[in-house]
Amino acid sequence: MTTFIGREQALVDVTELLRTSRLLTLTGTGGVGKTRLALQVAAALQHRYPQGVWLAELAPLADPAGVPSAVAAAVAVREEAGQPLLTTLVAALRSRHLLLVLDNCEHLLDASAMLVEALLRNCPRRRSWPPAARPGGRGGKRVAGALAGAAQCPAAAAA
Ligand SMILES: Nc1ncnc2c1ncn2[C@@H]1O[C@H](COP(=O)(O)OP(=O)(O)OP(=O)(O)O)[C@@H](O)[C@H]1O
Ligand SMILES: [Mg+2]
Repeated sequence: MTTFIGREQALVDVTELLRTSRLLTLTGTGGVGKTRLALQVAAALQHRYPQGVWLAELAPLADPAGVPSAVAAAVAVREEAGQPLLTTLVAALRSRHLLLVLDNCEHLLDASAMLVEALLRNCPRRRSWPPAARPGGRGGKRVAGALAGAAQCPAAAAA
């Protein structure tokens, strides 16, 4: 990865939002740095997720029906005969505590939202990490805004 410049507050804010939320959506105009920020946060938080952080790059995908298989490939889950892939994916991720970054799903919104919703509904909430200590205060800073129902670009879902 290239050097990450500035955006320290955004890093802090996104980290705090991920600490308290299972789904976070980063939105903004093209080229503003959504992907770079997501990757930076994911790298910095790797140690917080025992089963790691994973990136599903959805930009090349044209068919919404391919979302489950793109995500399954990203997290190394194999399709099982006679079983819907989404069922297999949910079953596999239920026991994993991981951070999943879906990048560029704005053209696959419904399919991405459906997948994220299935994961959030069926995978248990995991224990979070403690808030970062702040000079002159107890606990972490509250950050306004939080979850988005529809995954946009990119969404990070912590299962
Ligand atoms: N904080 C940063 N430090 C260094 N380079 C950055 C930073 N943020 C973005 N960039 C660079 O700027 C370019 C655009 O960033 P990025 O791809 O993250 O934008 P984006 O918002 O995801 O765009 P798109 O909407 O097209 O997906 C990339 O080359 C990226 O490496
Ligand atoms: Mg991007």
